[in-house]
Amino acid sequence: MTATKGLEGIVATTSSISSIIDGVLTYRGINIDDLAENATFEEVVYLLWYGKLPNRSELDQLTKELNAAANVPGEIINLIKLFPKDVNSMAALRTAVSSLALYDAEANDMSPEANLRKAIRLQAQLPTIIAAFARIREGKEAIAPKAGASLAENFLYMLTGKQPEKIAIEALDKALVLHADHELNASTFAARVTVATLSDIYSGIVSAIGALKGPLHGGANEAVMAMLEEIGTADKANSYITEKLANKEKIMGFGHRVYKNGDPRAKHLQKMSEELGKITGNMNWYNMSIQIEELVTGQKGLKPNVDFYSASVYTSLEIPRDLFTPIFAFSRTSGWTAHILEQYSDNRLIRPRAEYTGPSHQAYTPIEQR
Ligand code: ACO
Repeated sequence: MTATKGLEGIVATTSSISSIIDGVLTYRGINIDDLAENATFEEVVYLLWYGKLPNRSELDQLTKELNAAANVPGEIINLIKLFPKDVNSMAALRTAVSSLALYDAEANDMSPEANLRKAIRLQAQLPTIIAAFARIREGKEAIAPKAGASLAENFLYMLTGKQPEKIAIEALDKALVLHADHELNASTFAARVTVATLSDIYSGIVSAIGALKGPLHGGANEAVMAMLEEIGTADKANSYITEKLANKEKIMGFGHRVYKNGDPRAKHLQKMSEELGKITGNMNWYNMSIQIEELVTGQKGLKPNVDFYSASVYTSLEIPRDLFTPIFAFSRTSGWTAHILEQYSDNRLIRPRAEYTGPSHQAYTPIEQR
């Protein structure tokens, strides 16, 4: 038995949800470029869960169900009020989502119908939790979701208390489409491992949130913004990046385990970052990002991943930096739940082996003799 570090190149399951073949990402066989240009996030949620694009009435029905499920129990809001104000936002999300299970009468109902209803509730309630957390820590009241709004519109509304501008809704919606699913990434794998023990869907999502939190995965988008802020202006990028690379430090938002010739999602976010920069009149983050891309690609041959330009996009939408990864979780809940439902539908316990590298033939020594 020989281990492959990081399971690189290991095919661990079959899945019909999303694919990365020759650097092309598809959801249910539809190219991400087509979806990014044309689909709404709700359409993508439907596509991931049901395996096909919805017709008008199917989309209206799902949108209605998501909207109706968006309120979270008052107990969760009260729980968030007890959190320390400076707590890590992904830790807060992980705790609140875990607590949702305590107030869901169907939490342990493992029927496919109940699991789909729970997927709808999770998808609808994550953005409500993130917005409530963001407001409560600032001493403000949480805002209830409004009827008839899309998930993107409602999130921005619940965050700010104001009707968001059309361009902001469209930009967030596109970011949600681009982050919705990504084959067997670390957090999706974590979710599948958890539910393959026939544990419940909430446990699967909590595992996934924990995995997404790390800076090598979803946490990279926040780290990118921290880097842009640290650099400050485009003219300082050259010395900063050159020094980091010389010290063999990683530049967040670059590189990918699967894509070696570039992440197909990055160009959409780059375009959005430029457009939003022009609209807000602040091109600093975009200009700096472009310069960093040139430097990292030139010096190291690495291309930006999905996290790199999403940092400047969210900043242009005036979203606080530590909500970037929770927003990733909000979007990826669609993919996580699709994978959990797929895992349940044809389950087998996931239990790989380890190559043992420890000592052998060791005798037990009584405690007095150690
Ligand atoms: N900056 C500088 N060097 C890098 C970077 C980077 N961002 N990424 C990889 N490298 C280098 C490594 O130092 C290593 O060099 P070496 O062979 O000289 O030691 C080589 O490229 C291979 O890197 P690994 O870390 O072994 O590649 P792996 O496939 O394990 O990691 C990962 C992929 C984690 C994404 C990595 O590229 C990375 O850490 N990037 C920065 C974090 C990031 O942006 N994560 C988000 C990924 S997308 C997502 O999860 C949504």
